[in-house]
Amino acid sequence: MSSPVNVVVTGAAGNIAYSLLWRIAAGDVFGKEQPVNLTLLEIPAAARAAEGTAMELNDSAMPLVNDITVTDDQRKAFEGANAAFLVGAKPRGKGESRADMLAANGKIFIEQGRALNDGAADDVRVLVVGNPANTNAYIAAKAAPDLPADRFNALMRLDHNRAASMLSQKLEVPSTAFERLVVWGNHSDTQFPDITYATVGGEPLADKVDQDWYTGEFIPRVAKRGGEIIEVRGKSSAASAASAAVDHMRDWVQGTEGRWTTVARPSTGEYGIDAGLVFGVPVTGAGGEWELVDGLEISDAQRQRIDANVTALREEAAVADGLF
Ligand code: NAD
Ligand code: LMR
Repeated sequence: MSSPVNVVVTGAAGNIAYSLLWRIAAGDVFGKEQPVNLTLLEIPAAARAAEGTAMELNDSAMPLVNDITVTDDQRKAFEGANAAFLVGAKPRGKGESRADMLAANGKIFIEQGRALNDGAADDVRVLVVGNPANTNAYIAAKAAPDLPADRFNALMRLDHNRAASMLSQKLEVPSTAFERLVVWGNHSDTQFPDITYATVGGEPLADKVDQDWYTGEFIPRVAKRGGEIIEVRGKSSAASAASAAVDHMRDWVQGTEGRWTTVARPSTGEYGIDAGLVFGVPVTGAGGEWELVDGLEISDAQRQRIDANVTALREEAAVADGLF
């Protein structure tokens, strides 16, 4: 067995963490042979509840768990961190937009970005889940100038998984039959789940779905699925978000064997996206790094939808810059 990796989960007493921690502990992210040291970070008011979560983790006797620490001290939490899931943040309620969460949550990511900058291991991978996830990742990366920006990702795998699942239900084939899907942009209602390049069972997908269904039902339903869950469940998605976070970090660490996935990461100017904006793009994973799927032809219709996300994220970034 290799030496343990240090994994931090923030918002450790919350709903997503209650699912995520057990998946990490089971080896679903870092591998079935890889021990983990788990650090559960919470705010002081919820630290006791996080202790309860840690007690249950201990009671689960998971063989890969080497150590569990509960803390409300973020500097201590991120010291030596190899991976950080930044989940801790207020979820939106009915009728709120994810961008509305910026005022409530943005400052959290300044503090945590700084603590990561000063203490995290050189190979740290940071996945921001707390909303608005893209701009919170932008904030954390900006607050951590000594770490490469590409160490900071935001979660859009949930959107990607939702797209695959809706297509799977529509065409009555397993979700694994779809390749070359991407969800461009922001984890918000402007996001663009794009099937232009996608295949199903090796055949072009666009030939198999009706254009009216694609633009009139599929795109808006994927984009608004988080709100639909809040409406029906009464609170924000949790187990599916945890599952997507597991998929994202696993693929980052272990690779995708050529399969495309969607990752929101700081743009380097590709596809006309402003450098620095944390934007959902198609990637593959290999050797512990993401590789952009580059050189795709973009139609005018795609360009419009991508640009709507650039505009929205530019506006969020301007608000975020004002928080520093
Ligand atoms: P929750 O309210 O159940 O738990 C959030 C926890 O975070 C709370 O226990 C709270 O005390 C803690 N917290 C708040 N500030 C913190 C800080 N500074 N440091 C550490 N912990 C802190 O919420 P949840 O359902 O677990 O959702 C968490 C976040 O994830 C929300 O912002 C939600 O909107 C977001 N989310 C994102 C996606 C996505 O796909 N990106 C999906 C689902 C939910
Ligand atoms: C989701 O997409 O389910 C989360 O971002 C929660 C939300 O506010 O929609």
